[in-house]
Amino acid sequence: MNQPRSTPRVVAVRTPSKHYDILIGQGLLGDPAAWQGLPRCTHAVLVSNPTVFALHGERALHSLRAVAPRTSHVLLPDGEAFKDWQTLNTVFDHLLREGCDRKAMLFALGGGVVGDMTGFAAACYMRGVPFVQLPTTLLAQVDSSVGGKTAINHPMGKNMIGAFQQPERVLCDLDTLATLPPRELRAGLAEVIKYAPIADVPLLGWLEQHLGALLAGDVEALAEAVQRSCEIKAAVVGGDERESGRRAILNFGHTFGHAIEAGLGYGEWLHGEAVGCGMVIAASLSAELGLVPAAWAERVERLVDRAGLPVRAPDLCEDRWFELMAVDKKAEAGDIRYVLLDAPGSATLRTVPRATVAAVLRRHTVAPRAGATQPA
Ligand code: NAD
Ligand code: GLY
Repeated sequence: MNQPRSTPRVVAVRTPSKHYDILIGQGLLGDPAAWQGLPRCTHAVLVSNPTVFALHGERALHSLRAVAPRTSHVLLPDGEAFKDWQTLNTVFDHLLREGCDRKAMLFALGGGVVGDMTGFAAACYMRGVPFVQLPTTLLAQVDSSVGGKTAINHPMGKNMIGAFQQPERVLCDLDTLATLPPRELRAGLAEVIKYAPIADVPLLGWLEQHLGALLAGDVEALAEAVQRSCEIKAAVVGGDERESGRRAILNFGHTFGHAIEAGLGYGEWLHGEAVGCGMVIAASLSAELGLVPAAWAERVERLVDRAGLPVRAPDLCEDRWFELMAVDKKAEAGDIRYVLLDAPGSATLRTVPRATVAAVLRRHTVAPRAGATQPA
């Protein structure tokens, strides 16, 4: 079992519905101190998938045994394609079979898919039980495990069925990132990059300097990236927990990204890859509208490109793009609202004439290679 190697970094999240901490460090899954002080529970249920459980499940289960008199685990099939009702129901089947009551607590060990589904299950089971996030992808550590958005997909739209349910705690064990495939690490970097153009200009310079270290899995660089991302997300979510306004800026690149994911079929492009490409399009649209200098959009594109993420979208056809983007949760009365950059380090939500968006999309689209849908 890994021993904790240093005092974890702590980021506090303070929302109207819950106050909790994000702990960031090495060895946290096996560090008893990181698990202390959670609400008392009768049954601790670990939710994971076979990939993650084989790598990190035992350490988490060992710690869980100190948290509750009874423990069990349930494994969901791995992948975005399984983020649906049918899979969610297997969690409820498990909880009911195990006789879990309202003092049960769920623990999500995995990436954003496991985290979003476990959180939603926790929001629904017996009208709400507590849960803890144990994120094991970079994307989940810097974004999805924080802020309480939980959901499953609907065939007609991404994350369309869900609830706000804040976790009791988030344990970002940096050791788990060592087993992450490089493609998943790059996808996570998309969500780190996202915070810079919308909220933190110095972060963009830091990322430009440290991208090599991040791609190489340097733990210090990753710790810094996770902490800075979580600090920005905590500040935004603390001011607008249920996305009545400013929180929408965290969806920079997501309107285009979600359309790519749904248009190709969930799982073809990773969420982070679609977001990376979506940010390039959104930055370019911002420049096209004169909101930011073209050089700023180009800087965002260069960083996304250097991170090994796609900067050109698949050709979904214009009508299909707009059909898919209209299902976005930010749409109001049928109008698509885009998160755009209105200054370096600042973002805003706007409607844009369809012709303008279509022209930018044409510039950022490539026809897929024959037989290939994954990013080149
Ligand atoms: P994911 O959960 O599918 O994980 C990616 C892959 O990595 C999976 O195959 C998983 O089994 C594997 N994996 C996870 N941890 C691993 C590890 N340590 N070592 C080896 N393999 C590991 O994908 P993701 O990118 O983590 O999350 C994407 C999801 O997050 C999407 O569904 C997206 O909608 C959601 N999301 C939610 C929010 C939110 O605020 N709730 C924010 C951003 C994204
Ligand atoms: N990932 C966007 C949000 O949490 O609001």
